[in-house]
This record gives sequence, structure tokens and C-alpha cells, in this order.
Amino acid sequence: MATLLHIDSSVFPAPRSSSRSVTEAFRKTWEERHPQGSVIYRDLAVNPVPHISAAGHSAAFVDPATHTPEQAAAFSERVQLIEELEQADAVLLGAPMYNFSIPSTLKAWLDNVVLMGRTFDGDNSSAKGTPVTVVASRGGTYAPGTAREGHEYVQNYLQAILGDTLGLELTFIVPELTMAPHDPAMSDLISVFEASRTKAHADASAMAKELVQRLVPSVG
Ligand SMILES: Cc1cc2nc3c(=O)[nH]c(=O)nc-3n(C[C@H](O)[C@H](O)[C@H](O)COP(=O)(O)O)c2cc1C
Repeated sequence: MATLLHIDSSVFPAPRSSSRSVTEAFRKTWEERHPQGSVIYRDLAVNPVPHISAAGHSAAFVDPATHTPEQAAAFSERVQLIEELEQADAVLLGAPMYNFSIPSTLKAWLDNVVLMGRTFDGDNSSAKGTPVTVVASRGGTYAPGTAREGHEYVQNYLQAILGDTLGLELTFIVPELTMAPHDPAMSDLISVFEASRTKAHADASAMAKELVQRLVPSVG
């Protein structure tokens, strides 16, 4: 039995949201292939987690027996989010690009789960090695060689914090040019957008299938 932690953060519901449509495709294959598995779902747009606070941050550095009521409450919310990450055999993350970076709701989740001495602890990091499939949708293109390559702060950032800092294993699916059907100035890019969308859905299903095979060989 494997557990998938599925997190969405687009402000739009599916099918309007490209990232949600692709995470849905991944999850559908995961559940078909592994019906006995479990899924923990967080919709950060509908139910945002609290921003990190002074109480939640400082609580990590003192004996829990000395926590003020405010520290205890804030820290217990952090621990719940951390435990969900630690419980997960795989993570599925919808990470649309907003102003070159991730949605603020996803940043708030990250600020809660990055905890020195626990999730962030070198070789002992508590979720080290967990595979993470990131669906990094964006309205334009920031692919290598394009004019805006240097403005890409979604993949670069998530690789730095989840990959290099927490030791998770990231794979990216990048549905790009999603604004093409809505922006007349991008009309000549609609076919490239459509190809990217088709590839993203196919990659999501293939990756879900491959992950189930890897994590639960008996059912994969
Ligand atoms: C607040 C906001 C900011 C955005 N900023 C960018 C941006 O900087 N670059 C870009 O290519 N697209 C940008 N977009 C477009 C989204 O990346 C695009 O709609 C993408 O499909 C979002 O994923 P979603 O469809 O899952 O919501 C922005 C959209 C919103 C709502």
C-alpha cells in the first residue's frame, strides 16, 4: 500500500486550470492502478494553510514543554503538514506560475514544512528520497533558449528547496503556453500549446503508472 500526497494550488478549478487537469490525469491513473492505496489531498486555493508566524517559527527551537499556547497551536499545524509529507510515498504537486514564481499559498505550505533538524537535515532529512511529480503550468514559455528563460523561478526554486534542501526527487511536467487560446497575440502558438497539453497528460499517466510499479511492485 502506498500513499500519495496530492496538492493543488491553482486559483481556478479544473478544467479551466491546466495544472489541475494534469494532476487529475496523474491521480486517475494512480487510483486505477493502485485502488488499495491512499491519497491525502490538499487544495491550497480552497483551504490555504496559515502563513508562517513568529510563534510557529520560534516554537521549533525551544523545548515543546515550554511552548506558549500560541506556539503550541502554530507548531501543531506545522507538524500536521510535515507528517503528511513524511507519510507520503509519492507527492503530486500542482504548481502554476504566478508572476514568474509559485502561488503564495504554495509558498506558505513550504514555509510550514521546511523544518531544520527534521525535514531539512542533510542525509537524515525525514522525507529524503520521496519522488515528487511537479505540474508546472505557465501561460508563456520559459524553456531553455527562449527569451524569458532567465525569469523561470518555479522549477528553479522548487528544485532548490524541495530537491536540494529537503532531498526529494523531483520530476517536472510543464504544460506551457496555456494563455495561447485566450490571447490573440499568441494565436500562432495555439498548436504548440495543444501539443504541450497532450504531452503533459500522457506524461502524467505514464509517470503515475511507473511510480506505482516502482513503489508497489506486487500490484503495478
Ligand atoms: C496571478 C497570475 C499571475 C500569472 N503570472 C504569469 C507569469 O508570470 N508568467 C506566465 O507565463 N504566466 C502567468 N500566468 C498565467 C498562468 O501561469 C497560466 O494561466 C497557467 O495555466 C496557470 O496554471 P493553471 O491553469 O493551473 O491555473 C499568471 C496567472 C495568474 C492568475
